[in-house]
Order: sequence, then C-alpha cells, then structure tokens
Amino acid sequence: MRVIEKSGNEVLLLALPNEKLSRGEYILIEDRIQRTRMIVQVYDESYLDWPELMNDLVREEILNNSAQRIEHDPLEIKTISYLIRDMKLLRCKIRGIVNGDNLTLNDSWLPSRVTTKATRLSISELFSLTKREGYRIISIGITNSGEVFHINAEALDGRLNIITGKKGTGKSHLAKLIVSKLVEYGAYVIVFDLNDEYGGIGWNKDGKPNSIGDKVVSLTPGVSLRFTLDYIGLSGMINMLQHTLDIPGASLREFIRIWEFLESQGSLKMSNLGDAIQKWRCNELIRDALFSRYHTMLSSYLFSDDPEGSTKFEDLFSKLKKGGVIIISLSRLQPQVRKMSVELILSKIVHLLERNRIPPIFLFAEEAHLYLRDTYWDDIVTRMRHFGVFTTFITNQPDAIKDCIYRQADNLFIFNFTNDVDLETISRASTTDSDTIKSIAKTLPPRACMILGKVVNDLPVVITVKPTDMLTLGETSLFFKDYIKDNLRKACN
Ligand SMILES: Nc1ncnc2c1ncn2[C@@H]1O[C@H](COP(=O)(O)OP(=O)(O)OP(=O)(O)O)[C@@H](O)[C@H]1O
Ligand SMILES: [Mg+2]
Repeated sequence: MRVIEKSGNEVLLLALPNEKLSRGEYILIEDRIQRTRMIVQVYDESYLDWPELMNDLVREEILNNSAQRIEHDPLEIKTISYLIRDMKLLRCKIRGIVNGDNLTLNDSWLPSRVTTKATRLSISELFSLTKREGYRIISIGITNSGEVFHINAEALDGRLNIITGKKGTGKSHLAKLIVSKLVEYGAYVIVFDLNDEYGGIGWNKDGKPNSIGDKVVSLTPGVSLRFTLDYIGLSGMINMLQHTLDIPGASLREFIRIWEFLESQGSLKMSNLGDAIQKWRCNELIRDALFSRYHTMLSSYLFSDDPEGSTKFEDLFSKLKKGGVIIISLSRLQPQVRKMSVELILSKIVHLLERNRIPPIFLFAEEAHLYLRDTYWDDIVTRMRHFGVFTTFITNQPDAIKDCIYRQADNLFIFNFTNDVDLETISRASTTDSDTIKSIAKTLPPRACMILGKVVNDLPVVITVKPTDMLTLGETSLFFKDYIKDNLRKACN
C-alpha cells in the first residue's frame, strides 16, 4: 500500500487487489527515515477513477462480444493491465501519531509518498499502543481479521451506553452477552425486558443452568412484583400519579391529605385508601378524579396490602450476594401499567441508592421510549447516574433517543442501518466523524457491529458478535412456522 494523498484528517491509500482490507480495519503508515508512525482507519474503498481505464474497459467489452479473436500477449501486459483495473483506493481517517509507545491525537504530519510503508495493524497491536482501562474482560466477538475482541467491564461502569441498529440485527443478543458477563463479575443488573427474551439468560441451550443460573430473578409487575403503599412512600406515589396518571393539582393535594391521614392512623393500605376517598369531605369532581386513579391502581395489581407477598428491592439484593440480574418482564402489560411499573421501580431504586441501601446497578432498557417519560431521560443521564444507575439503552429507532442523550453517551454499539435519516441522527450527535459512521454502518452485515466510545478509547472497532450457548427466548411467533423449519432442515443437511 502507498500513500497518494492527504487532506485534513484524511489519507488516501493505493492498494493492490490482493491487499484485502475491509472497512473499519487499521493501517500503520511508517516512515523509517523520518521515524514517524501514523495510524489510520479505512472507512471507504473504491476503484481507481481514471477516464483511460474506463475507455479500456469499454473497448475490451465491445471487442469481446463482437468478434472471435486470438490473443497474443508475449510480454503479459494484460496481467498488469488487469492489476491496474482492480487496484483500490482506500479512504482512511487519521486516528493519531505514535509517540514512543503511545498514540496521540494529531494529524499534522504529511507522510512521504516515496519513503513511507503502509501495513495492516491488528487490533491487539492497536490497543497495545493505547491501553484500555480495566481487566475484567468481556469477550464479545471477533474482528474482520479473525482476532478475538473483548471490552472491559470497567469501561461500562458509571457510563451511559447505547446499543442501536436495524430490526433483527443482534442488539438484544449483544446486550445479553454483556449482562451475563457483568453478573459473572458480581455486578447487579436490572433489565426492562419488553419481549420476554432475557428469561433464558441463566440457562444453556441444553436446558441446564449456566454459571449465572442461580443469580437470575424474573419478576412480572402485578404478579410477582407488587409493592405495599408504605414501601413506595408518598414521594414515589406522587411521582406516579403526576407522571403516569396525570392527576390534576387540586386532586393531588387532597390525595396527599388522605395519605397523611391514613399514615397518622397507621392504616396505610389499599383497602383503606378506597374507603377514605369515598368518605373524604371534598368536591365531587376531585373525588371522581381520585377514584378513577384509585381504580387504575387497583386494576394494575401493582399494590398489595400483604408485606409477605410484596417485593423489597433491598431484600432481593441482599439475597443475591455475589451479583445478579433482576429481569422485569414488561411484555404482557398494558402500556399504562408498564409506565406505572417503571416509574415506581426507578423512583424506589434511586431512593435506595441515595441512602446507600443497595449497590450501584446497571440498567438495561429495551425500547425505553415506550415506557420512559420524557423528563426521565435527562434524569437518567445526570442525577440517576450520579447516584449509581448506569444505563444501557437498546433501540431500533435511533430517533426515539434525543440528541442530547447521544451526546452524553460514553459508548455506542451500532449495528447495521440502511436508512439515511437514522444514520444522520446517530452521526450528528456522536463524537466520531460522521463519514466513518455512515459509511461503515451501512455496510455492516447482520450480527456485526461498530463500537465507539470509551470501551475502545475512541478508536472505532468493527466486530462480528459471537454466538452464545445461552437459551434464546422471545423469538417472534410466526404463522408459517413450517416454512422456516423446512428451510432450517435443508440448510443443516
Ligand atoms: N452473534 C450472534 N450469533 C448467533 N445468533 C445471533 C447473533 N446475534 C443475533 N443472533 C440471533 O438472531 C436473532 C435476532 O437477534 P436479536 O433478537 O438480538 O436482534 P435485535 O436486533 O434485538 O432484534 P429486534 O430489533 O427485533 O429487537 C435472535 O434469534 C438471536 O439469537
Ligand atoms: Mg431486540
């Protein structure tokens, strides 16, 4: 490979047809005389764009198709001409200059066209020049050149992550891989599971429990996840009434009075709440408003008067001694109950974290725009993160996440996107240049992903996510299942 041009933070390299480099791979440009080394990353490739080459190609195609002829080429000029036709231009972004054993962000060096040599740089060589923090390895896949690639759990700690990509590209699969490894390392994870697909995380495909089998707790709001009023507390209840049940201000004031009255009597229970609303002396409209909210609460089955049958997160966490994952199954819930559950869970978790009653948690939220209220997004990336809720959003609708959230994201895992609007949304807000994101994300095959951010020291890496032995649940129920089965059988034979 040879340098042929440099402009701004881009370098253009000329490569022979047999020098196979795919988008996302790294190249070391080295000048032994000047003793300078530069690292660049391929983000696009094309053929030589010469009019003479085009003329040749057209002429030859016409001749081939118009008459039979005998070729006489004793000097084998054709071989060279074919080579030229297949030569590639690799468009690369400069990622830095190597200083001693370190990589520094700098693109001011103009490499010589004559004395520099360009060679492929493996990912392990790249990260030996720029050390990544941490030692808790999460192996997630292989690079294009076949190297095993890992990220470190420490780079996810205290961070905001986004996993995004087109439908069915493997986002949840990657999320499950990361969750299971975090739990193995003793972390505490809460998953908002929208498609009932995380339940198999503790099992192998052969039906036997795996290494985290005894660290998985699945809870369904209204069935195995219920709270006493006392546990939720007045502030949690106000949050829920305001943000998910849209209670008017006057009614909320009466509700607070009723709550305080029941609390002073030591009879804060759902059954007493209904009676108290009925007997409370207040405006009829306010009573109606309170009653309708009370009935919604009652029919959600989220509240229980039985302390034994209700959940306390601090008890759950103390049972999971060396880490664990709490899967909140949101799939079968009505949208409103889903929102109520998330509101109650998050406000209680933050309440407990503020008082150091539970350890920091990693929160994995699938398609969060379906249940997270608008004001929570900013809260999650600022206040909640400060108290110890480290969120990973997983979505196939990148525009459902606001630009300001992308800008604060520390790590981005991008799977294939073909839609330009989606790509524009991500590239606009990411710290990595938009050329790299747009060009690479468009060409990623399913199960391959581009990683940006702290986990890779801001050096974008393209990998194919590895398969797991985990039991996969949550596959879409299809009507014509026999067709899929037949195809699978044919593929296996
Ligand atoms: N790296 C992989 N190796 C093996 N199987 C995979 C891999 N990635 C994904 N799959 C399988 O492909 C299917 C789709 O993956 P997954 O559910 O993770 O996609 P998704 O992007 O989350 O889809 P959706 O947008 O519908 O949520 C699943 O059956 C999953 O098990
Ligand atoms: Mg998914």
